[in-house]
Amino acid sequence: MPHPLTPEPLLSGAVTSLRGEVSVPGDKSISHRALILGSQNVGQTVIHGLLEGEDVLGTAAALRALGTSITREASGEWRVQGVGTGGFSEPNGVLDMGNSGTGVRLMMGLVATHPFTTFFTGDGSLRGRPMRRVMGPLEEMGARFVARRNDYLPLAVIGADMPMPIRYTLPVASAQVKTAILLAGLNTPGETTITEPERSRDHTERMFAHYGIPLRVEDGDKGARVLTLTGQPEVHHPHIEIHVPGDPSSAAFLAVAALITPDSKVILRNVCMNPLRTGLYDTLREMGADMWLENERENAGEPVADLVVRSSKLKGVDVPAERAPSMIDEYPILSVAAACAKGVTTMRGLKELKVKESNRLAAIADGLIANGISAEMGDDSLTVTGCKGKPQGGGVVKTHLDHRIAMSFLVLGMASKETVRVDDGSAIATSFPEFISIMNRLGANITSLAPARTGRSTAIASAPASRAPMVIAIDGPAASGKGTLARRLAEHFDLSYLDTGSLYRAVGLRLVYADKDPNDKKAAIEAACAIDDEDLSNPRLRQERVGEAASIVSAIPEVRAILLDFQREFAKRPGGAVLDGRDIGTVVCPDADLKLYITADLDARADRRHRELEGQGITVVHESVLTDLQERDERDSKRKFAPLKPAPDAIHIDTTNLSAQAVFEKVLGIIEATKAA
Ligand code: DC
Repeated sequence: MPHPLTPEPLLSGAVTSLRGEVSVPGDKSISHRALILGSQNVGQTVIHGLLEGEDVLGTAAALRALGTSITREASGEWRVQGVGTGGFSEPNGVLDMGNSGTGVRLMMGLVATHPFTTFFTGDGSLRGRPMRRVMGPLEEMGARFVARRNDYLPLAVIGADMPMPIRYTLPVASAQVKTAILLAGLNTPGETTITEPERSRDHTERMFAHYGIPLRVEDGDKGARVLTLTGQPEVHHPHIEIHVPGDPSSAAFLAVAALITPDSKVILRNVCMNPLRTGLYDTLREMGADMWLENERENAGEPVADLVVRSSKLKGVDVPAERAPSMIDEYPILSVAAACAKGVTTMRGLKELKVKESNRLAAIADGLIANGISAEMGDDSLTVTGCKGKPQGGGVVKTHLDHRIAMSFLVLGMASKETVRVDDGSAIATSFPEFISIMNRLGANITSLAPARTGRSTAIASAPASRAPMVIAIDGPAASGKGTLARRLAEHFDLSYLDTGSLYRAVGLRLVYADKDPNDKKAAIEAACAIDDEDLSNPRLRQERVGEAASIVSAIPEVRAILLDFQREFAKRPGGAVLDGRDIGTVVCPDADLKLYITADLDARADRRHRELEGQGITVVHESVLTDLQERDERDSKRKFAPLKPAPDAIHIDTTNLSAQAVFEKVLGIIEATKAA
């Protein structure tokens, strides 16, 4: 789990009522799979409601490196142009999967049956997690691995030239290992068969069905399941849509909050109701929850529904060990429901909770006791005695950087007599960044005590995002319309504006007028050190030959380094800023609030540039404008340092057939939608 720089203590006070409707964030497991299977389809997949967390973005970046075209169209909306099974090409660099165990294991399976070598790494915590369980079966299929200490990242997957189908029995139920083998089986001729002794999550099987991939699922002995995949299927959907179901584990916090607070009714839209994930909801029903499903339907092969939840009088129950796999992440929030119920709740089969990121079982028990609730921890069980009436509250809860502990105890505070304090809520962002703003919108009373961010105690709902000055990063090739857009946005939102191309042009200008070769590195570095404000308003800056010199000097890393600090300082201007260029979203402002990637067809751009030059009384042949642009595109996007490319989370806009006004309005719409979300 990533460590926050500054702890963020949070307070949650009693609420009188929670009311409203919310869409919970997309499910992470399904988001990974939507992108991956999109890459295996010959055609276009449009994904709605993708969870845009770091792990999922890492999978998108890895698939891009393997040759898939993936673009972000708007918040949560992504377009994948797949290459078909077996269609990947060897990536140039190392695929860094960050903190994502799912991401790396699934991608290892996918590339294991491609005839090339892929290198993987991850952050410190992922590099400490073993990979052998996936490597074993993939080796049987013909892949080879070179791994640190034979088990850990960084590692190289030397993909099989002639992959072989296998029959494999999973030693322990694992959705990750199962999925890695199934993904490897996609580019393997013949039948790949997997036997799982107990059921593990089946999001992969359901997504396969959504894409029409032939996977047979049969019952084996003693509750086992046998999956048989016929390899190298035709996955050919010219256009397919996926609406990612909402994460039932995130919805759980909202559902329990509505159950235990008075006078509440909350509607949770688009919640995944996969029976292997909904053990909590079964338990809450047994406890007497007033809760029902509406609008039941299927999305991406998954059962989905809107969940309506009302305040309820809950009673204690016995939760059997067999239910643990379908609600393993939900025991912290169930314990909060149990604290507010009448009678005793006993939860069994919880050994796994002791070896999570923290000892989650101990963290729950300590948090309950700190708030005056009687809780007893057994070897693999937890017993909570419900309070008669409201829990006392008033305690400080140690979260141990566990996001689910933090959210659960903030929910407890809503129904307690005294305010509950959690020592650090910063980890909440790992799974549910909008948690606090959504809760407060429904009527909760969660406030931050983080001095570094707010300077005083403030409701976070309206704190950092809306108060922080906006920074907009715009990248794109020459004459794509990015400058016009940037100026209009700056004017509209009263932001400072920097055309970073003019900095490189200023360097080019000095060289051109001193009759020096822009390829002369020493001269270029001297010119970069010498540029001043006057250069930036020189009317010659827009000349084509200056633009060409700018493009040449911009490939020199020392020149870029000299100009970088100025750009970064500019982005920090009070009141916010818009910067446009080639590497703003990727290098200069990777943390910008909004990243746009503006493109247009070469012909359209050449027309625009031609008209612009004619307007300035400069006569040029259309053809030569076009060739110049082409050369510039080539140089700017192929150079080694900070080449022109979209940031992974940039929103792409093609302006070929759009007026400047239409582009501007589209971006205003995106900003509005992002704010509303
Ligand atoms: O946007 P422009 O055409 O005015 O930019 C001139 C050149 O400067 C462009 O060809 C590449 C370079 N440039 C860059 O490398 N990085 C930026 N952020 C902006 C411009």
